[in-house]
Amino acid sequence: MIFEALKPEVETIIKQDSRSTNERLLNICELLEKHISYYNWVGFYFKNGAKNELKLGPYVGEPTDHTIIPFGKGICGQVAVSNENFIVPDVSAQDNYIACSITVKAEIVIPIFVNGKNIGQIDIDSNTPNPFTKEDEHFLEFVCNQVSNLLSN
Ligand code: SME
Repeated sequence: MIFEALKPEVETIIKQDSRSTNERLLNICELLEKHISYYNWVGFYFKNGAKNELKLGPYVGEPTDHTIIPFGKGICGQVAVSNENFIVPDVSAQDNYIACSITVKAEIVIPIFVNGKNIGQIDIDSNTPNPFTKEDEHFLEFVCNQVSNLLSN
């Protein structure tokens, strides 16, 4: 299973003390986009200081205009408020959705918690309809836990 093979690679990236936090986050995006065929845009959003908005962090994929997302807006903004994983099998069926590219069919967003606080998220867009399963969710929770460890150090 690809996810089990990728977990130690994620851990290795997290432990690369010679690299900055943003470099390590970018390396995680690159790893996921490279090895999981239906992960077509992979990025991190983080709470923007004291503001109730998300700011785009490291990502791979097409550049997006949505570098700032207010809490509550789009899939990402909803996860910032709900603290829950959000899997969207078909983005065209969502009312509160911010389109980044017309090629995107599905999206998954998993929150990142540091000391119990929702401080950001990993966001993945897919050009394949309905590609995400519980396995993706569990794997991405693992990734978010690793990122949480990195950010709390
Ligand atoms: N689709 C997201 C916006 C971010 S882009 O996918 C990069 C949303 O609805 O929140």
